[in-house]
Amino acid sequence: MADWQKSDWRTKPRIQMPDYLDDVELKAVEAKLASYPPLVFAGEARRLKAQLGAASRGEAFLLQGGDCAESFEQFSADGIRDTFKVMLQMAMVLTYGAKVPVVKVGRMAGQFAKPRSAPTESVDGIELPSYRGDIINELDFTPESRIPNPNKMLQAYTQAAATLNLLRAFSTGGYADVHQVHSWTLGFTEGENATKYRDMANRISDTLDFMKAAGVTSDRLHSLQTVDFYTSHESLLLEYEEALTRLDSTSGKWLAGSGHMIWIGDRTRQPDGAHVEFARGVQNPIGLKCGPTTTAEDLKVLMKKLNPENEAGRLTLIARFGAGNVGDHLPRLVKAVQEEGAKVLWTCDPMHGNTIKSATGYKTRPFDSVLREVREFFGVHKAEGTIPGGVHFEMTGQDVTECTGGVRAVTEEDLSARYHTACDPRLNASQSLELAFLVAEELSNRDHARAAEAV
Ligand code: PEP
Ligand code: CO
Repeated sequence: MADWQKSDWRTKPRIQMPDYLDDVELKAVEAKLASYPPLVFAGEARRLKAQLGAASRGEAFLLQGGDCAESFEQFSADGIRDTFKVMLQMAMVLTYGAKVPVVKVGRMAGQFAKPRSAPTESVDGIELPSYRGDIINELDFTPESRIPNPNKMLQAYTQAAATLNLLRAFSTGGYADVHQVHSWTLGFTEGENATKYRDMANRISDTLDFMKAAGVTSDRLHSLQTVDFYTSHESLLLEYEEALTRLDSTSGKWLAGSGHMIWIGDRTRQPDGAHVEFARGVQNPIGLKCGPTTTAEDLKVLMKKLNPENEAGRLTLIARFGAGNVGDHLPRLVKAVQEEGAKVLWTCDPMHGNTIKSATGYKTRPFDSVLREVREFFGVHKAEGTIPGGVHFEMTGQDVTECTGGVRAVTEEDLSARYHTACDPRLNASQSLELAFLVAEELSNRDHARAAEAV
């Protein structure tokens, strides 16, 4: 973009970003980061963009998932491996339902900075600045912990680099082999739904056996052994983003080198604000959260700013309205997109509109609300004749107890047992896989509806 510089966001109103106390220290960190290698490369971002373009046409489906907030303390190879593995299993189930390739994008290797609903929080009558993610300050409830420290950006960079290194190894080193991934630990034992999931898992198994027998084995077909796996995060801490932004010599365009896809949160999508200004100038695929307060007028302005050339795969609209609210909001935004003739990928984040406080005091999300929002999302697209192209989950491969419900039901009383999230509640491995089965059902309906139309 000829009229854009990576620091232009600094002249725009900024919100949800820390005020660092020591400007000299901040500048030193920015200079260091700017001298480090980027984490991702332009060719990869362009490839993802092409795949998201396919998803926008119903020729692929996006699965985006991972932690609400990555944590320095809980960083481990096993944690990354388990989330990667569950996402691959989910992708296989979704591929089976959708009959199209599933594009896999982690909320990983950079998902550190968090917008907050209030600048301060109080515990037992003591008020402190809010926790804003490990890249900014610390979760401990002490005044020192909550002071924003720019050096944390360097630790975030290092952790993101190590995470990506592992993900790249898993994606190409045979770990992603479909025959390996398939050794599910389903853990669903009883009930009507469990039987349904087992049936679908068996059908997938049979298909893989058939492919093997027919000679389509993993050593014959390289593409079954490797997988494309991309990274994404909310582009919130713009000092970090700017420092990792590089000019791509092949295309002459800017690239946010911090992750393949970046998104703009529901709180920072002001058309004239700093976050939109930054995102508009980089060539990465961009996500834009759309919530109940997103107006059709703003969406039209944002689409023009963020995707002036109307390129397929450039802009993903991530709908997050809450169960029961999708029908009130999504149709007017779908209409705005159609009026503009805009090419967008519609995906559903059924997490952020469904957060409640349990009777036991924990922030949680009921599995049934999550599922209900996904179904409403599919329902609206069916009615409007548009394409539901993906899902966006906060999830982990660990057996946490943060969201309630699922076939292996987590109750409100269970929440305290393994509640580890640094921010919002995540689906655990079993709930994530269960949701994939249920979304696969919706997808096979989408497929049937389109096949019927084609006849
Ligand atoms: C998030 O995705 O973690 C988030 C904060 O979402 P939203 O901006 O939609 O509230
Ligand atoms: Co969240």
